[in-house]
Amino acid sequence: MEKKELFALLSQMTLAEKIGQLVQLTPNFFAEVAAEGEITGPLAELGITKEELYTLGSVLGTHTKEEVYALQKNYLAHSRLKIPLVFMADVIHGYETIFPIPLALGASFDPAVAEEVASLSGAEASAAGVHVTFSPMVDLVRDPRWGRVLESTGEDSYLNSLMATAFVKGYQGTAGELATNFRKIAACVKHFAGYGAAEGGRDYNTVDLSDWNLYQNYLPAFQAAVTAGVKLVMTSFNVLKGIPSTANKWLLQDVLRQDLGFEGVVISDWGAVRELVTHRVAEDLSAAAQRAFTAGCTMDMMSSAYIKYLGNLVTTGVVAETDIDAAVLQVLTLKNDLGLFADPYRGLTTAGALGVKEEVLRKASRQAAAKSMVLLKNDEDILPLTTGQKVAVVGPFAASQDILGAWSWIGQKAAAVSLAAGLQATDLAVTVVPTVDRLAYTPKEVDAMLAAAAACDVVVVALGESASESGEATSKGQPSLPATQVALLQKIAAVNEKVVTVLFNGRPLLLADILLATKGLVEAFFPGSEGGHALADILTGKVAPSAKLPMSYPATLGQIPLHYDELSTGRPLTEDYAGGGYVSFYLDQPNAPLFPFGYGLTYGQLEVADVTFPATMSHQLPVTVTLHNPGVKAVTETLQVYLEDLVGEVALPKRSLKHLQKVTVAPGTSEKIELTLTKDDLAYVHAELSTAADPGDFKLYVGFDSQCPAYGTFRLVEG
Ligand code: GLC
Repeated sequence: MEKKELFALLSQMTLAEKIGQLVQLTPNFFAEVAAEGEITGPLAELGITKEELYTLGSVLGTHTKEEVYALQKNYLAHSRLKIPLVFMADVIHGYETIFPIPLALGASFDPAVAEEVASLSGAEASAAGVHVTFSPMVDLVRDPRWGRVLESTGEDSYLNSLMATAFVKGYQGTAGELATNFRKIAACVKHFAGYGAAEGGRDYNTVDLSDWNLYQNYLPAFQAAVTAGVKLVMTSFNVLKGIPSTANKWLLQDVLRQDLGFEGVVISDWGAVRELVTHRVAEDLSAAAQRAFTAGCTMDMMSSAYIKYLGNLVTTGVVAETDIDAAVLQVLTLKNDLGLFADPYRGLTTAGALGVKEEVLRKASRQAAAKSMVLLKNDEDILPLTTGQKVAVVGPFAASQDILGAWSWIGQKAAAVSLAAGLQATDLAVTVVPTVDRLAYTPKEVDAMLAAAAACDVVVVALGESASESGEATSKGQPSLPATQVALLQKIAAVNEKVVTVLFNGRPLLLADILLATKGLVEAFFPGSEGGHALADILTGKVAPSAKLPMSYPATLGQIPLHYDELSTGRPLTEDYAGGGYVSFYLDQPNAPLFPFGYGLTYGQLEVADVTFPATMSHQLPVTVTLHNPGVKAVTETLQVYLEDLVGEVALPKRSLKHLQKVTVAPGTSEKIELTLTKDDLAYVHAELSTAADPGDFKLYVGFDSQCPAYGTFRLVEG
C-alpha cells in the first residue's frame, strides 16, 4: 500500500478498531481456532469480549503455520476492514532447529555467525507463519546472577553493537526486503532499557543508572539496531530513574525517538502496562493505559489496559485521538512493510515460497556451535583427542539432550545430539557412563564412572546446569556448579588425571573450585540441536576452537558485578602494589576475574610480532599488526584492539574494545594485518551526554583477550 492508502484506511476506522490495533494477545483468546500458544508470562483473565477480539492488531506465541493460517482466516472473516493480524514470537536462537544461545553467539566474536543464525532461524520461523521475532536482546550484562545473560551477547557495548546489527540484518534483510521476501521477518530489539543492570542480579528488580552510564554503555547496541533499521522496540520491565520503562516518557520519547531516531513500533513486554499498577505508578488499569500510551508505548502486550480504557480516555479528552491515529499508523506501517496487505498469509499458501531444508539448518547449527565454544584450559595439550585413544564420557550431561537452552521455542530435546552421541559418531573408542540426575548419583553410578575413567586414556566429564536454570526469572545468588558435580569431578580426577571437563550452562559460572581437577575445560554453553556433533568437532580437532568469552568469568561471588572495562578509580590496584592498603582491592579475594573478557584458547598459538601506527592522527589511524605462527598447524585467532583514552572530561574505562577480527596464519609464517581506527572509535559520552572524541593521548592494546599488552600511544590532534 502507498502511504496515502494507509491514511485512507485509518480514516475509515472507528475508535474501537484503532485501539484494537494497539493490542497483542496469545492465540488461546481465539480458542475456537487455536491451541494454547506459548505462555511466556503471567496469564491473567483479561475479560476481553469477542467484539474486541476481532479488532485486535496482533497475536504472539503461535507454533505452526496451520495455526496461523486458521487464525488469520478466521480473523479476516470477522474483521470489518480486513486488516490482517501480525504474528510475533520469541525466535531467539532458532525456531525448531536450535542454534547456540545468544551468549554463545556473542562468544563467537563473529557477527557473520549471528547474521546467518538470524537469517536461517527467521526463514524457518516465517515458514511457520511468524512475521516478527522478539529478538535481538541487546541488554548489556555484567552480572551472571541474572539468568537472562543467556539471551545477551555480553558485557561489551562494541561487541553487542556488532551483534545487534548482524541480527537485525539477518532477520530483516535489506531495506524494503520484508515486503516481498517472505523468508525475512521483522526484528524487535529489547529490552529498552537497562534491564541487565537489575540490582542484585535479581530479575525484574530495580535499575538505577546515571544518564552517562546509560548512554555510554547500555544504549550503543540499541542505537546500532535502530541504525540497522529494526522495526520494533520492546520496553523493559524495570524502572529507570524511578519510572518503569513502559511509562517512561523521557526514555521512550527524548531518548528513543529523539536521540536514537527510532520511528517504529514500541511494544510493551508481557503485561508490562498492567504492571504499572503493581509498580504503584498507576492507581488502576485506566491510569496505567494513560501513562503508558502518553509515554509513547504503541502496543500493549497481554494486558486489557488499552482495549478497556483508551477509548474512554479519548472520549473524555485525556488522550487525543490524533495521538491514537499516530500510534495506529505505526502498526499499519509495520504490517505494510511486511507485505501483509498484499498477502495476509505472507507466502504460507504459495508453494515453494518459504521453508529451509533441515539439513541446511542443522549443518549451520553445528558450525555455529563449534564457533561458539570456548576452550578455557588445555594443559599438556590434552586436547584435541586423537584416534586410538580410549575415551570415557561420564557425568550428568554426558548423554543429556537438555542442551537447547531457554527460549528454544519449538526445538525438540529429543532431536538434540548429545555429547555422547557426537563422540560416538567419531572413530574414537568411547565408553559412555551417564547419570540420570544432575544433582545426586547412586554409589553404583559413581563406581561405574570411576571404573570407566580408570580404564580409559582420557575422561570427558560433562557438567553444568539444566536449561531451566538460565533465562527469564532464573536468577541465582550463587552461580556455581552443584557441589555434587564438583565432588564427582574430583573423584574422577583422583582415578585418572587426564580429565577434560565440558560445561553446559547459560551463564558464567564460578569455576575456581574445579580448575585443579581438570586439565582441559570447554565452555559449551547451551549449544543447540547439533551440540554433540559440534563438541565432537572441537574435541577431536576437526574444528579448532576460536571463540572468546563475551563476559568476564568471576574468580569469586564477591567480585560480581564484574566487567573488564572498569574505570581507573583514584586508587587503582596496580601491578607494583606492595601492600599497605588505600587502594581499590579486597582483603580476601583478587580483583582479577578467573577468565577475562575476550579470553579463549585454540590449538596452537599466534604471537604478536609487531605493531606499528603513526604517533598522531586526526581522522584515521592506520594500524599494522604482524602475527606469527610458530607452530606446525594453521591457527585462527581473534585479534582484538583496545584503546585507553589517557585523559577525558569524564572518568573513562581502563580500556575499551574497538576492533576485532578473525585471523588465520599458516604454520611457520607471519601475516601482516592492516586495520584502521577512526575518530569515531575514540569518541565517548561526555558529562552533558554529547558524544565526541577529544584531542589527547591514547594507549593502544593489541592481542587475543582483554588483558593484552600495550604497544604504545598516539595523539589525536585537531584536524
Ligand atoms: C517475556 C520476555 C520477553 C519476551 C516476551 C514475549 O516476558 O521478557 O523477552 O519477548 O515476554 O514472550
